[in-house]
Amino acid sequence: MQHLIDINDIETEEIEQLFELTDEMKENPDEFSSVMDNKTLVMLFAKPSTRTRLSFETGMTQLGGHGIFFEMGSSQLSRGEPISDVSQVMSRYEDAIMARLFDHEEMIELAEHADVPVVNGLTDLLHPCQALTDLYTLHEKDRLDTIAFVGDGNNVAHSLMQASAKMDVDCRIATPEGMEPDEEIQERVSDADVTVTNDPYEAVDGATAVYSDVFVSMGEEDEREEKLAEFDGFQVDQDLMDAARDDAVFMHCLPAHRGEEVTAEVADGPQSVIFDQAENRMHVQKAILHTLVNE
Ligand code: CP
Ligand code: NVA
Repeated sequence: MQHLIDINDIETEEIEQLFELTDEMKENPDEFSSVMDNKTLVMLFAKPSTRTRLSFETGMTQLGGHGIFFEMGSSQLSRGEPISDVSQVMSRYEDAIMARLFDHEEMIELAEHADVPVVNGLTDLLHPCQALTDLYTLHEKDRLDTIAFVGDGNNVAHSLMQASAKMDVDCRIATPEGMEPDEEIQERVSDADVTVTNDPYEAVDGATAVYSDVFVSMGEEDEREEKLAEFDGFQVDQDLMDAARDDAVFMHCLPAHRGEEVTAEVADGPQSVIFDQAENRMHVQKAILHTLVNE
């Protein structure tokens, strides 16, 4: 693994090794407190973030290194500097690059011109760090069996489908008509146990995890009213949770909008593992950075 742009960049065995390393780093953080000594991660953001920024920056501090928050809008990128130049400049200073961008092609271009590892912190197409964290969280809770994602077939769903395929997990994606996952991503996982439906109840039947994401993704704010109308019937409420396995957990990448994609009863209820997921972003990403930079 040279970069982590796409779940395609990581093999099943490497995911298993990553989970073992995450367990070790989570249990004995002091043993890893200087593995990034004198090393710097630059974190380029073209979109807002709470978890991605905090977990990467705090993770670098815990590893003995430093994270630089680099906002696209206040950089020369906002005045037309090519991302290929910025990538080469960053490679002269930094030990790794993490980026959150709109266009996935731009992420690929960034990685193509980088001499240091590049980690995708979300694009419109993919969110690989989130999916690896989600499967790690389910593995930790002994629920890595059947995931039902209910929501928009975009970045979070795409990476979850790909990661589930790699880990032989039954993954069901329920979206409104017209919001199904990208056809190329569906094609990539066509040999795996991944199904797409427009019926949330069909998706959650027997599931060990029910997963929700925002109805209006970053950059779609102008379509808010139409999207909310199209998602009618896709809110995760207690009735839907009750149609999953009795011991199913509720997951959400966050931020959560109680009353939209999920009810407060579910998001803040006993089945919810949303804050364990958020915490695990940091542990899994520390393992990703240590692997990419030092191994
Ligand atoms: N889940 C996630 O990526 O959160 P942020 O948008 O807050 O980084
Ligand atoms: N689908 C959401 C994920 C947020 C972490 C978005 O792109 O805004």
